[in-house]
Amino acid sequence: MSASDQAKTLRDLQQLASNRREEKRAANKPPRVIAVTSGKGGVGKSNVVANLAVEMSRRGRRVLVLDADLGLANVDILLGLAPVGHLGDVVSGNRDIDDIILHGPQDVDVLPAASGMSEITTLSEAQKGRLLVALDRLKSRYDTLLVDTGAGISSNVIFFAGGAHEVVVVVNPEPTALADAYAVIKVLRQRKDIQRFQLLVNSVRQSSAAQVVHERLERVAGRFLDVDIQLLGHVYYDQAVQKAVMGQEPVVLRFPSAPASRCLAQLAQRLDMMEAPDEQEGRFWEQLAEDGVSP
Ligand SMILES: Nc1ncnc2c1ncn2[C@@H]1O[C@H](COP(=O)(O)OP(=O)(O)OP(=O)(O)O)[C@@H](O)[C@H]1O
Ligand SMILES: [Mg+2]
Repeated sequence: MSASDQAKTLRDLQQLASNRREEKRAANKPPRVIAVTSGKGGVGKSNVVANLAVEMSRRGRRVLVLDADLGLANVDILLGLAPVGHLGDVVSGNRDIDDIILHGPQDVDVLPAASGMSEITTLSEAQKGRLLVALDRLKSRYDTLLVDTGAGISSNVIFFAGGAHEVVVVVNPEPTALADAYAVIKVLRQRKDIQRFQLLVNSVRQSSAAQVVHERLERVAGRFLDVDIQLLGHVYYDQAVQKAVMGQEPVVLRFPSAPASRCLAQLAQRLDMMEAPDEQEGRFWEQLAEDGVSP
C-alpha cells in the first residue's frame, strides 16, 4: 500500500471512530472510563493522565479527569490549575461536585483531589456511594472519564480501576516497577475479574525496551493469572517532561514536538480508536447498584 493510501485508510478509520462517537453521544451512552494505574509510585501516571487528557480532548473527546489519588493531589498542579475545593469535600457531602470542577487547558475538565487528607485515602462505602452518585450527574456532559488512580493496591485503586472500561498500567523499565505492576494486575484480576490490561511503558530510552518489558510481564501474568496484556505503547525518557512539570504545563502543549509528546499523542490516538467491549459498557456506573446505593 502506498503512503497516500495508508494515510487515506487512517483518515477513513478516524472518520469511522468519530461517527461511532457521535452515535454513542446521540444514544446517551455513559462515558468511557479509562483508569491509569501502576503498582509502583512515581512511574509517570499523573503525567500520562494530564497529557492524554489534553490529546484526547484535541481529538474531539469531551474529557473529564478524576484525580483519584485522593490524599495526594497532583493532576491540578500538572495542568497549572488552582482548586477551589476537592473531592474530599464532595465525598463528605460538604460541596456540590459542580462547584469543584476546574476548567483546564484544551477544554479538559478536572475533578481535583485533596492534598494531605489522610482520612480520604481509604473511602468508606458511604463515601464511594456519594462520589458515584455525584459523578452520575455529570455523565451526560462527557464521553471520556480519565482516572488517575494513584499507586499501589489500596481499596481506592481497586475501586476506581475495578469499574473501568480500560485499565492502563504504567511501568518504567525498572524490575521493581514490573514486579509491582504484576501485583496490581493480580489483585484486579482476582478481586474485580479484570482480564484485559493496556501496558504503557514510560521513560524508555529506546522503543524496543517496551517490547522487552511487555514480553516479561506477559510471560508471568499470562501464565499465572490468565490475563490479556496488550502493549499500548511507550513514552521516551525526555527531559522536556520534567521541564514541563516545572512550568506546570502538560508537555504536549509546552513542547509539542518533543519525543515524549509525540509518543503521548500517538497513545491518545490508539486509545481513541479502541472501542470498549460491549459487555463492559457502563460497568463503572453499575457499581452504583453493586454498592447498594441508589442515585
Ligand atoms: N517520560 C518521562 N521522561 C522523563 N521524566 C519523566 C517522564 N515521565 C515522568 N517523568 C518524571 O517523573 C516524575 C513523576 O511523574 P508522575 O508524578 O507523573 O508519577 P506518578 O506515577 O503519578 O507518581 P505517584 O505514584 O507519586 O502519583 C515527573 O515529575 C517527571 O519529573
Ligand atoms: Mg501521581
